[in-house]
Amino acid sequence: MAVLKKTQRTGPSDAAFPPPADSPSGDIGRDEIAANHLIDETRLAGGLIERAVFTEDERRRSVEIARGIVLAGRAARQTTSGIDAFLREYGLSSEEGVILMCIAESLLRIPDSATADALITEKLAAGQWDRHRGHSESTFVNASTWGLMLTGRFVRLRDTKEAGALGIMKRLVARSGEPVIRQAVRQAVRVLGEQFVLGHDITSAIARAKGYEAKGYRISYDMLGEAARTDADAMRYFDRYMEALEALGAAAGPVASQHPEALFPRPSLSVKLSALHPRFEPGKEARIEAELLPRFLKLLRAARSCGIAVTIDAEEQERLEPTLTLFAAAFTHETLEDWPGLGLAVQAYGKRAIPVLRWLRRLSERAGRPIPVRLVKGAYWDSEIKTAQERGLADYPVFTRKLYTDVSYLACMRFLLSHPQAFFPQVSTHNAHTIAAAHVSGGGAEFEFQRLHGMGETLYGEVVGSGKLDRPCRIYAPVGGHEDLLAYLVRRLLENGANTSFVHRLADDTLPLATIIQDPVETAERERNATDAPRASRPAVLPRPRQIYEPSRKNSAGLPLSEPKARAALVSEMSAAITGNLAAAPIVSGEVRAVGRQSTIAHCPHDRRERLGTVVASDAADIENAIVAATVAAHRWDRTAATERAERLSLAADFFERDRAKLMAMLVRETGKTLEAAQSELREAVDHLRYAAAEAKRLLAAPV
Ligand code: FAD
Ligand code: 2OP
Repeated sequence: MAVLKKTQRTGPSDAAFPPPADSPSGDIGRDEIAANHLIDETRLAGGLIERAVFTEDERRRSVEIARGIVLAGRAARQTTSGIDAFLREYGLSSEEGVILMCIAESLLRIPDSATADALITEKLAAGQWDRHRGHSESTFVNASTWGLMLTGRFVRLRDTKEAGALGIMKRLVARSGEPVIRQAVRQAVRVLGEQFVLGHDITSAIARAKGYEAKGYRISYDMLGEAARTDADAMRYFDRYMEALEALGAAAGPVASQHPEALFPRPSLSVKLSALHPRFEPGKEARIEAELLPRFLKLLRAARSCGIAVTIDAEEQERLEPTLTLFAAAFTHETLEDWPGLGLAVQAYGKRAIPVLRWLRRLSERAGRPIPVRLVKGAYWDSEIKTAQERGLADYPVFTRKLYTDVSYLACMRFLLSHPQAFFPQVSTHNAHTIAAAHVSGGGAEFEFQRLHGMGETLYGEVVGSGKLDRPCRIYAPVGGHEDLLAYLVRRLLENGANTSFVHRLADDTLPLATIIQDPVETAERERNATDAPRASRPAVLPRPRQIYEPSRKNSAGLPLSEPKARAALVSEMSAAITGNLAAAPIVSGEVRAVGRQSTIAHCPHDRRERLGTVVASDAADIENAIVAATVAAHRWDRTAATERAERLSLAADFFERDRAKLMAMLVRETGKTLEAAQSELREAVDHLRYAAAEAKRLLAAPV
């Protein structure tokens, strides 16, 4: 009997609904992509530096142009929106910024007032808002600071018992009441969100876009919504996209031809595949093919007939494989043949970026038409790091140093620009040096810049239009209501608030201009050559996911189950680990008590039709003997030194990991768990053992 039922298999049989080998993408392998998934970043960086090398002249011109963009950006700051100043004041390097971030993140999704009030009370009271009083040049920021300060004081006061003047204040709070404060904070978060949204619906967005289009911008509309939880959600997002296409087609008029020259200057659409299906995730390839692909093709055919190009957004690294599979299936689909309108976003912070581009180039060569590629650095960095740690992966799928992401971006950009037959590059960044380097290395090549709505406005004032760099720029413009904004807003706040990000550094007047427009390749080269640099001057390295608890203990090891090859290898190991029937019997003092005993057949509790194996039940003597043996052992165990007991627990954890395939096979076989759930259960046990061992060593090694 097979260890895993057919439906539980997630191995190569349905790992990727590969189009037939004679189709344009059929035999373009992705081994190189898989090999780079968790590769060591320093090893990878060397190759990227080589790819991203610029001539001395190109370097000089890039820095010169970047300087011009930055100076113009800083000069125009007075006229920019108050939100920019707000984010500068409350960046994520201040405790108050983090508090606001937490509130923004949670407030929009807390349904009831009581919990929202409790959150505000807890969070606001913790901040030292008066530290920010009068700090900023912006009236908006100072007014907000006052509001937050007062609100923070009020919520603190509510819990104090003081009388006198404070009593009066308390009464004030009681009179205005927390609902007022809650409304004010909620409103502030909404105002923050508005900054990044072009319109609440497609009609208002199209109307508002006209002002940008008049300045020479192109627009890519993104109907907010992602990570659909149910099919009803997914259909709601899908319908919005279809409505948007209709409205965009009507507004843009009939398309003259489907050639890039006619198509690309028109408005376009950006789509997150996770919005269109609740199970757009690795391991669900059969459903993705059967349910999501037809849905997506319907959208693309509608887009084609309206003359609206579509870009697939890049989401979490775990969704990369299914994204590539779906992209290939749609790009080579017979009903979309010859349509140059389907593009893909590629994240340079991913270690697989260059192999992905190489794979796309082969796809393009096979199909005989270029692929629009939106090159981004990547918006999910924080959650990628956390996810990899949570999963106990051998390494991170993204770079852990921003310097390497910048170098990777330039390497990818070079790659795109040097294959004009294969790609239409869309350079998406708000970093002046990256913009300048693209402009210089692009020379006469065809490409467009892209920026996000609400970001980089002053920088691109130096790019768009004659007399400037005179390159086209498209604005990625989210459309939708607050209920769908949250995840997007959090990414923007993280991006604006992080002190490593260019927009944040641009706003920091204490940073010299030369520092913020430094050529990353030059910096990386310098670092590489200075192998004997003193230890203190070497950059801090993020511990790998399995080392995050060291020196106390090892994190439990997890396999990258989003990787089809890793999954397939595990499944075959699991199948080999249990052959034939499972036979359970009492074990007392290490001895199996099965000989000459009656066994019964056991069925899988999750599917009673499935036979699991046989069981010999314990009798009264077994139980008696087991209790006696356990009591004796417990006395011995009690007299064993804590450090030795800790060693045994650690050893047990190591054995669990060694026998991972077999234990997981049993969990799957017996209870119908998914691979993910089985792995989590095993890792939980390993973590418990190692945690208990570490605590025993810490607390009980010496007499107490
Ligand atoms: P910079 O300040 O130069 O770079 C910031 C970026 O560096 C961070 O976002 C992160 O990617 C990276 N970084 C920061 N810290 C570290 C670190 N310690 N180690 C390694 N890397 C680090 N993002 C997506 O993920 N998917 C998309 O589909 C997508 N579409 C976009 C479309 C457009 C038009 C634009 C403009 C952006 C899009 N983005 C997308 C967002 C994009 O990833 C961020 O805006 C971008 O990373 C910011 O980079 P920058 O060059 O503007 O700024
Ligand atoms: C994001 O949603 C812009 O696609 C990018 O963060």
